[in-house]
Amino acid sequence: MQHELNYFFRMLYTKDMDIESAVKNLMNNNRRKVGDYQFTAPASDIYPFQWLWDSCFHAIILSHFDIVSAKKELEAVLAHPLPSGLLPHMSYWHTNGEVLPNWGREERGNLINATWKAEGTSSISQPPLIALAVLRVYEVDYDIEFLHKVYPALYRYFAYLQKERTFNSDSLLYIINPDESGEDNSPRFDGTLGLPPKHTANESLDKRIELMEKNTECDFEAKICMSKHFGIADVSFNVIYVEALQAMAKITLKLGLILESAKYTQQANIVQGDILSLLRYKDLFLSYNHVNKKHIQVLTWNIFMPLYGGLLTQEEARTLVDTYLRSPNFFKSDFGVTTTAKNEPAYDASDGFWRGPIWLAPHWFIFKGLKRYGFDAEAAELKEATIRVIEKSGLREHYHPDTGQGLGAVDFTWGGLVLDMN
Ligand code: GLC
Repeated sequence: MQHELNYFFRMLYTKDMDIESAVKNLMNNNRRKVGDYQFTAPASDIYPFQWLWDSCFHAIILSHFDIVSAKKELEAVLAHPLPSGLLPHMSYWHTNGEVLPNWGREERGNLINATWKAEGTSSISQPPLIALAVLRVYEVDYDIEFLHKVYPALYRYFAYLQKERTFNSDSLLYIINPDESGEDNSPRFDGTLGLPPKHTANESLDKRIELMEKNTECDFEAKICMSKHFGIADVSFNVIYVEALQAMAKITLKLGLILESAKYTQQANIVQGDILSLLRYKDLFLSYNHVNKKHIQVLTWNIFMPLYGGLLTQEEARTLVDTYLRSPNFFKSDFGVTTTAKNEPAYDASDGFWRGPIWLAPHWFIFKGLKRYGFDAEAAELKEATIRVIEKSGLREHYHPDTGQGLGAVDFTWGGLVLDMN
């Protein structure tokens, strides 16, 4: 049945192309209800659970045509915080008392299920886009009750991040596992994991499982885990954090929490200052490895995130776009922006997952960044490339940058962000 549905949706995209209705159908088809809650599975076959940043993308997509579901998506993703306040990157959602099989990849699933600290969720997080998604949804119909409902979990999450994910005297957030970046096998993390630029998917998995075991040993206590094993101040995580703190300042203001609001604004300014001083490396912003005290000199699409966060001067932004985004030697391809630069030894356009292929959430972040700097022509070009690749191959997890061939999961939700490229 599932295969027939998948086939049906693919035909829908490729023949009689109407991206908006394809997105609506997919969001509807992937909706899962558990009791009073509902969420959207990113892809019904291999990603049947709820993921944190995916649900933020989903809420942004749904805010364009189904505000009720957009709110429910966020309420569901906020429903299972850990006692520390951490919002887990995955919630498995028990169905009839059973935990659904994990990840569609047995070996990984078993290990992760066996080692997570919490029952029914993971014990690591993902980029804190949640405050931005909440604000976005609020701004559709100004439902203050919704804000009241979600605020306590939001407050505790941001308090957790500030308290538990910072290091030394700076205010940046450190991730304890590559999966927390949302880009599981990005070459940004190779060096720290002890992987060469060319390796197999299984070799990457083995290393990440090894790290997971070490994180289990330190009981996911972030400060211990990051001082001993893996602690990276990732560019995208921190840029999203600054934007999210600014969103928290707006949310608290709506709730009449004036002092809280001032604190979030102040924190946003401090983090922004630390990104500018600590993550800048020559003309770029690069993630910083706490363990060896070095910037990670691997070019990935993350170098464009400072556009999204408005961290560059107009001139710096122009140089970044002209030098890297528009150059076929680095990131430009027929179907958009590659996730890893083409001149990197790690670049793998067809089999690389986050090591080359095009993903559409990065397109969305870069689009927003280009608009922020008034680069309308480049933004329009990126939107056209996004539409072109969806028209060619349907809503897929990622795509070959040169041929537009669909890769990874079929009927994957992130392409719906094209509705928000405006
Ligand atoms: C993959 C992606 C991650 C996403 C998850 C569910 O693991 O790398 O970013 O959250 O799939 O879609």
